[in-house]
This record gives sequence, C-alpha cells and structure tokens, in this order.
Amino acid sequence: MSHESELRATIAAITAPGKGILAADESTPTITKRFNGVGIESTPQTRRAYRLLLSNAPDADRYLSGVILYEETLEQADDAGVPLPKVLEQRGIVPGIKVDKGTTPLPNADGDLITQGLDGLGERLAGYRKQGARFAKWREVYPITDRNPTRLGIRANAEVLARYAAICQSEGVVPIVEPEVLIDGDHSLERCAEVTDAVLHAVFAALYRHRVLLEGMVLKPNMVLPGNKFAGGKAAPDVVAKATLDVLKRNVPAAVPTINFLSGGQAPEEATANLNAMNRLEPNAPWVLSFSYARALQDPVMRAWSGNAGNVARAQQIFDHRLRMNSLARQGKWTEAEERA
Ligand code: 13P
Repeated sequence: MSHESELRATIAAITAPGKGILAADESTPTITKRFNGVGIESTPQTRRAYRLLLSNAPDADRYLSGVILYEETLEQADDAGVPLPKVLEQRGIVPGIKVDKGTTPLPNADGDLITQGLDGLGERLAGYRKQGARFAKWREVYPITDRNPTRLGIRANAEVLARYAAICQSEGVVPIVEPEVLIDGDHSLERCAEVTDAVLHAVFAALYRHRVLLEGMVLKPNMVLPGNKFAGGKAAPDVVAKATLDVLKRNVPAAVPTINFLSGGQAPEEATANLNAMNRLEPNAPWVLSFSYARALQDPVMRAWSGNAGNVARAQQIFDHRLRMNSLARQGKWTEAEERA
C-alpha cells in the first residue's frame, strides 16, 4: 500500500460511526501523579494491570476506534503473552503512540512552552510501526495569561506541530495534531476563543507550508471554555458548543476528516455534555466531532479500581458506561436520563 492509501485506511478505521479515541498515553511521571492521587503505587506492573483493564473492558470494541498508548505499554503483554497493541488490534481497535517528549520553556517568549522530540522521530516511528502503531500523537501547550501565548510562541509551536505531522505521514503514520490551549487561569471564554482562533490559524498555515495531507490527519483541539478560575464559573454546553464551532469553522478546512477533542480538565460529564451539544448544534459539520479524552474517560475508572484486582469488573463497568455516554454524545444523542440509567 502507498503511504497515502495507508493513511486513508487508518482514517477510515478511526472515524468509524459512533466511536472515538481513548488517550491512555500518560508518560510515567504523569500516570504516577494520577495514580498517587488515588492512592495507587506506580510500578511497571500496576501500570500494565491498569492499561489491560482498559483494553479488556467488555464494551471497548463497541465504542473505541483507537487507543493512544505510551512507549512502555507498547512493549507490555497480557497474561497470555499477547502484546498490548495486538490485544487492541484483535478487538478491531487501532493502536496509536504518543511520540512527543514533553515541554520545555521557549526562550525569549517568557511563559510559553515548546514541545521536544523531533530529532530522530522518523526512525522512532518506523520502530513503533513494527510494534503495531498506525497513528501518533504530539501535543503542544499554550498557557493563557495577559501576555501568553506570545506571537513567537504561537508561531514556533505551529511549526513544530507541522514538522511532526509531515514526518509521521512520510512514515505512513496518521498524525494526531494536538494544540492544547490550557484551561488554567481566570480568563473568560471570549479570551479562550481569541487564543484558540490565533493558535489554529497558525497551525493550519504551518500544515499548509509543510504540505501535510489534511485528509490524512486528526485534529485534537481544546474546547473553547472559560478558565478554571474564571469568576463567572462554567459556561453552559450550548455556549461552549457555539463558541467552539465558530472558531473551528473559521480555521479548520473541511478536508480534515475528524476532530477528536481533548478533555483538558473538564469533569467527565461536562466533557460529554459539551461534545453532545456540538453534535446537536451542527449535525452536518464537515468533520466528525468526537472524543480523544484521557481524564474525562479515566478518572472515575482509576478511582474505582484503586489498584485492587477485586475491583476490576466494577471499574470496567464504569468505563463502559462513560464510553457509551461519549458515543451517544458523538452522535448528539446523549441525555441526562441515559447518564443516570
Ligand atoms: P485529557 O483528555 O485528560 O485532557 O488528555 C488528553 C490528552 O491526550 C492530553 O495530551
């Protein structure tokens, strides 16, 4: 298969009706922080057990088209010795891999960050592909303050995202392009909209410069929300949906097949309600509007499991419920009644 037909085949699998993506790609320091938050010790064994719990959940194959993994997980196997990417593949779920190496301060753009990991990326991707990964993820983050993100930060981060995406496609790997405008701060929804607009504008200009095949990528953006310390509190789902879609329509070409949102610190039901409101407001949007959540899918599951084998079945039930709710939201069919059922 040519790289382009491979990219298109992967996109077709990822955009399967009613399905979305689970981000289970927390780096070891991040999953350790999350585990410690609910009293779980973080070891290779507990991380493996937890990621197996997610991958083996009874309904995962009904609602998940893809799972983003972390390097360590790519090499782990289930009790029968089947590598985790294979476990997913056998259930019709496409395995993916987080390839960025985290952020560092961007010099001369005080307060902004830039993501590392481009050097040697082509060779790393070739290795991940052999381990079964068909798509990749790279995240750039944009803190909001009175001065951030700076123009330099917006431009530099866009350039890195586009270079990453071009390298992925040259290896036949679908890039998930994740520019995350952070929720932290006391800013308004309007300020988040303004920043997200500038960020996406720069990202798509850079993707164009680097000749990235838009039909062969996934966009993973933040929703447009007020900051988590905004004095006016949270915005209603209809308001979030309208503001988010306005910004997306101005910046995301219709050639992009799918937009899979990050949850970014929203509560699980909040992320579901907001996704649902978007699909209700714009049932004929040019792109699929789906999810690629980590915390909004996992938080209640991790808490229910608590590192105890006796809790696996209950934790998987909770996970399956969240998956079903988000599958409904991806179709604009979620209701409070379904949530409580
Ligand atoms: P959250 O849904 O927890 O924001 O995580 C998504 C993700 O993949 C962050 O890179």
